[in-house]
Amino acid sequence: MTPIPVYLDNQATTPLDPAVRDAMWPYLTEHFGNPHSSDHRFGWDASAAIRAARAQVADFINAGDDEIVFTSGATESCNLALRGVTGHAHDARRNRIVTLATEHPAVLETVRDIAASGYHVDVLPVDHNGLVDLRVLEAALDDRTLLVSVMAVNNEIGVVQPLADIASRCRAVGAHLHTDATQAAGRLPIDVDAWGVDLLSISGHKVYGPKGVGALYVRPGVDLKPMISGGGQERGLRGGTLPTALIVGLGAACKLATENQHSDGYRMTALCQRLYDRLLDAHPQLRLFGHPERRVPGNLNIGLPGVPADELIRNTAAHVAISTGSACSSASSEPSHVLLALGLEPETAATSVRVSLGRFTTEADIDQAIETFCGIRSARPVALERG
Ligand SMILES: Cc1ncc(COP(=O)(O)O)c(C=O)c1O
Repeated sequence: MTPIPVYLDNQATTPLDPAVRDAMWPYLTEHFGNPHSSDHRFGWDASAAIRAARAQVADFINAGDDEIVFTSGATESCNLALRGVTGHAHDARRNRIVTLATEHPAVLETVRDIAASGYHVDVLPVDHNGLVDLRVLEAALDDRTLLVSVMAVNNEIGVVQPLADIASRCRAVGAHLHTDATQAAGRLPIDVDAWGVDLLSISGHKVYGPKGVGALYVRPGVDLKPMISGGGQERGLRGGTLPTALIVGLGAACKLATENQHSDGYRMTALCQRLYDRLLDAHPQLRLFGHPERRVPGNLNIGLPGVPADELIRNTAAHVAISTGSACSSASSEPSHVLLALGLEPETAATSVRVSLGRFTTEADIDQAIETFCGIRSARPVALERG
């Protein structure tokens, strides 16, 4: 029988935690009521479950329950945040948006679209480690800046941006700050007040919850134009019947993340360090991309000079499941925009693979990854040893 490869692609998506699945099951079966119908027990049960899940999500990010808007995932949350803030007839004196070159397409493609409606968009460079340069940011901000969008954690290189420092600079000019915290969730403690953000996006499937659900945090006083009109659900910001089971799953996933993130982080950091140290022993020419310290637990973005990433992934796929950076753009053969933004040559960027550990990664998984990557059990070790 073909062995199942070890799953080390947890930044693309995480497996559903069995406790999340168990929490969801009753809402896929007997508790099927419409959460917006207040006429009977079926509706009340579903509505109570959504209330409880909303509190779990809010608690996870230190927000108020009425500051959470449920969405279909982080892409929609980012769209609602960016299009929502810019969607009202705009004030000609506040028509600037600032973001980073390393953002996920959920932000970059959206601001590109918004630019076509008359906004001026500044896409700032990052330094060679992937961090925002605060002086460059400060120089880009003034009283014409309406909105700044900076991701908390990069999905490819795991770099953690200094959000509180960014927030104080946004506040000084009266600009709103949105953060795409999709990759921070479950890996770092999230606190909307300590971070000083006005809008924050998360996704269920990156935090051991189901796919197809996410949330947007909206600070009171931030006025958003709704993207989906309908029956007035989610305070009129997002029409449509809420998917009770998915939302219960997101709530349960956030509760588990709140409880486990320190122990998960500690374990992932130790396992990741062991993997990296052993790979470096075996391949001293190995390169680590992104900041060496300011990165989330469980992320490695590495490359072997002269070994194209697609070849390495193909040759090791029987033993380990890893990827080239962003799940959303891995169908494209273009070098990653994130790695190019670090100033890497396209040929170097083309060697980059992302290895991402998760809550369910075991010592044995890391042993198998070490054996595979060190060429011991690789089907074609020659590919790993080149260059
Ligand atoms: C940083 C980041 N933002 C947004 C998304 C999109 O999330 P979703 O799949 O929930 O739409 C992803 C998913 O890869 C991501 O990593």
